[in-house]
Amino acid sequence: MKIAIIGTGYVGLPTGIGLAELGNEVVCVDKIEEKINALNSGKATIYEDGMEELFQKHLAKKSLRFTLDMKNAVSGADVVMLAVGTPPHPVTKEADLRYIYAAAEELAPYLDGYTVVATKSTVPVGTGDEVEAIIRKVNPAADYDVVSLPEFLREGFAIHDFFHPDRIVIGANVKKARDVLLKLYEPFQGKTEFLLVNRKSSETIKYASNAFLAMKIHYINEMADFCEKAGADIREVARGMGLDSRIGGKFLNPGPGYGGSCFPKDTNAMAQMGRKYGAELNLIETTIAKNDERKARMGQRVLDMLRDHPDGRIAVLGLAFKGGTDDCRDSPAMEILNEILKTSRNVCVYDPKAADNARKMLGSRVSYAETAYAAAEGAEVVVILTEWEEFRHLDLDRLKSAMSRAAIVDLRNMLDAEEVRSRGFEYSCIGMR
Ligand code: UDX
Repeated sequence: MKIAIIGTGYVGLPTGIGLAELGNEVVCVDKIEEKINALNSGKATIYEDGMEELFQKHLAKKSLRFTLDMKNAVSGADVVMLAVGTPPHPVTKEADLRYIYAAAEELAPYLDGYTVVATKSTVPVGTGDEVEAIIRKVNPAADYDVVSLPEFLREGFAIHDFFHPDRIVIGANVKKARDVLLKLYEPFQGKTEFLLVNRKSSETIKYASNAFLAMKIHYINEMADFCEKAGADIREVARGMGLDSRIGGKFLNPGPGYGGSCFPKDTNAMAQMGRKYGAELNLIETTIAKNDERKARMGQRVLDMLRDHPDGRIAVLGLAFKGGTDDCRDSPAMEILNEILKTSRNVCVYDPKAADNARKMLGSRVSYAETAYAAAEGAEVVVILTEWEEFRHLDLDRLKSAMSRAAIVDLRNMLDAEEVRSRGFEYSCIGMR
């Protein structure tokens, strides 16, 4: 099939690459010339595990192309996917749909032959109706249907998740459109669950899922706080809970609070939708407020570790919003760092993948190191903010000899508390005394 994908970000690019690997002819379109030039010259614009090889393969085969020209991408396409950003509105926090609507308007004139327009971006309930109306207005003769096709890819694991989805949700009100997408996703038949639902249910599934996962993280974080006070060990508690198949063991890792480009945005948008429809979503409202509070509290926890040396150097390990990605947008690490920077100016940071992105946001407010040990040079406190696998294997003796005082605040519970303490470190982690 010929597929056009509008938007080449963390959703559009991995989806395009995945669909090319399934044997489709994929054209990705974006407005940012720099991005398109980079992609056409073989430079991936985001980091995703396992992406590089497939990207190069399909670029070389021309089964994956990149263009600035909407007409070129959309003409003759069987499916056009909208994968543009839906950032939160700065004041109301509801999803800002201007890029979705602009894309619908721009693609409409070029639809020819029956086309399915599928929304991959996370959009509020009812957006499909709007997109349908915009296209109809611009091109009354177009033969098309608008479908919700929510994306559940995790950043850092997008390629893996594309090929191993837990489910494929197709929100189509019309059988003809549904059949086109069933054919596109044919290779997954028998391997995963297909959910054929109406468009509004599909739009809701995406928000309800992300809000639930955010609540699950908030819950385990609250339990961690409880464990610290009551003397229990959150690792044991989480394992005990997770073994109940009704609860499930995933997303029970306590930490500094959730972040990233999805959970904060989607929980806020869901809460806003609840208010709009007059449906109380108290759990979600509380989750949002408490998650924000938590990040500020975690910053304070780091500063407390400096005690009577407020000028002491702090080494921050990890800036990405989670391990496996170079993305710092809405990163809890960055928020905690900003909290620290309100008081301390003596901070050195290290992240194996996200340093370039972080530099754009932090500038010269911090110094940058090429390794964890270089960051720890002369530091009073080392803080682990992102769960990069390499932090689990830190050479503690080497770290200690680089530092001026041996103290670690581990907000991702990466290290073995007993071992760290036995090597002479003061150690603070989450959910254990
Ligand atoms: C999320 C959803 O998982 C994905 O299905 C959706 O399509 C996009 O949003 P992503 O934002 O890539 O994916 O990250 P995810 O792995 O879900 O983590 C989100 C945040 O929660 C991170 O800050 C992470 O560190 C935190 N988290 C996650 C925890 O603190 N504890 C956990 O147990 C899991």
